[in-house]
Amino acid sequence: MSEPTHASSGASCAGSRRERLDLAGRRIVLGLSGGIACYKSAELLRLLTQAGADVHVVMTAGAQRFITLDTMQALSGHPVATDIWDAREPNGMPHINLTRGADAVLVAPASADFIARLAQGRAEDLLSLVCLARPWGVGERPVPLLLAPAMNREMWAHPATQRNLAQVSADGALVLGVDSGAQACGEIGDGRMLEAAALLEELVAALAPKPLAGRRVLITAGPTFEAIDPVRGITNLSSGKMGFAIARAAREAGAEVTLVAGPVHLATPRGVRRIDVRSATQMHEAVLPIAAAQDLFVATAAVADWRPASLSAQKIKKDGKKVAPTFELAENPDILAAVAALPQRPYCVGFAAESEKLEAHAREKLHRKRLPLIVGNLGPATFGRDDNALLLVDAHSTRALPADGQAADKLALARELVQEIARRMAQEAA
Ligand code: CTP
Repeated sequence: MSEPTHASSGASCAGSRRERLDLAGRRIVLGLSGGIACYKSAELLRLLTQAGADVHVVMTAGAQRFITLDTMQALSGHPVATDIWDAREPNGMPHINLTRGADAVLVAPASADFIARLAQGRAEDLLSLVCLARPWGVGERPVPLLLAPAMNREMWAHPATQRNLAQVSADGALVLGVDSGAQACGEIGDGRMLEAAALLEELVAALAPKPLAGRRVLITAGPTFEAIDPVRGITNLSSGKMGFAIARAAREAGAEVTLVAGPVHLATPRGVRRIDVRSATQMHEAVLPIAAAQDLFVATAAVADWRPASLSAQKIKKDGKKVAPTFELAENPDILAAVAALPQRPYCVGFAAESEKLEAHAREKLHRKRLPLIVGNLGPATFGRDDNALLLVDAHSTRALPADGQAADKLALARELVQEIARRMAQEAA
C-alpha cells in the first residue's frame, strides 16, 4: 500500500466537457493581473465559456503586457474592462456593474503585487476595486472571490506574500494554491499557476451546494488485483470512474473526502485525499482503521471475492508441462460488511454490479450486508464507460437514477446521488 497522497490534476475523472454544462447560467468575472501565466488564462476563458458561463474579463495594466485585450474580448464575446473611469458605462461605475448579479470573481493569475493590494484593501486599479466592491457577505447575496496565485518560487515563499495570503484568506477569499515545477524564469519550485482545467474544477466546486459541509466521506473505487505470481493476477474490468466521480461530487458538496483506489489510471479529483492499494486485503487494511471516524462510506470498488491462497515467489513456468496449473483460492474479507458491522458505523452505501435481475440481487445484498441503501448497476454495460444508469434500492423502495432509466454522464449522476445520500443522512439524523 502506498502512502496517502494529495496528488491532483485538473483532468476531470468522469464525463467530458461535451456532455456537461457545469456553469450554465453563471456569470463569472475573470480578472487577470500581470504575469506570464496570463497565457493560460486564454485557455481558462475558453473552458469557462464552453462550460456555459457568461464571462466578463477585467485586466490590469500589467496583464496587458502579457496577453492582448483582443484575445480575451474575442474569447469572451465582451469588451474587456480595464479602466475605473470607463466612459462607456452609462453610470460610470464598471466596478458595480460587473459585480452585481455575478456568481463569482476569479482572479487568474493573481500576482504577488495584486495579492498585496488586496490584503491592504486598495482600489486604485479596476480589478482591485472590483474585488473590494463585490458583495462579500453583508446583506446581499455574496459573490465569492477565488484567487489563482502565480509567481516565482522565491516570491511565493516570501514571508510578505504568505502574510498577505493569510490576510486575504481571513478576509474571505478562497486561495486555490499553486502547482510546483519548472517556472518561466528557469527555476524549479512552487508558484506556477494551476492549469486551466484545475481552475475550472475548483470554480465549479466553489459554486456547488454544500449539504455535506463538515462531513467525512470514505469511498472505495476501482478493481482489486490478486497476485498469482510476480507477473500475473486475478482482476476485473472496473475502471473506477463511478467511484472517482462520487469522490469529486462529495468534495464539491463540502465533504472531506478520502478515496481508497485499486489499480486505475485516473486523475485524483481536486481536494481529495487518495490512498492507492492493489489487493482486497490492502483495501481492507486501508479502510477499516479509518472507517469509524467517517460520516459516510460509499463502497463502489469491485473487490475480488477470492485470491490465490498462496503467492508464487517466481513466475510460474510452463516448463514443457502439458497439464494446466490449478490454484487454491481463499476468500477475501468483505470490506463493506465489516464497516457496516462496526458499532460506530458511518452511513453505508453499497454498490451492486449485476448482469441480470438487478433489483432482486441488489435487495438481497442490502439485507445481507445490513445497509440503508444500495446502488445497483449493470456491470458489463457500465464498466469503463463515461455514462451509467443507477437503481437506488432501500428497504422500502426502488428508484431509477436518472428517472427515465436511460444512461447519463457519471459525474452528473454522482452529483445527484450525493445530494440524495445527504438528504437521507439528514433525515436519519433528524
Ligand atoms: N464489497 C466489499 N468487499 C468485498 C466484496 C464486495 O466491500 N470483499 C462491496 C462492494 O464494493 C460493493 C458490494 O460490496 O459495494 C458488492 O457486494 P457483493 O455481494 O460482494 O457483490 P459481488 O461480489 O458482486 O457479489 P456476487 O459475486 O455474489 O454478485
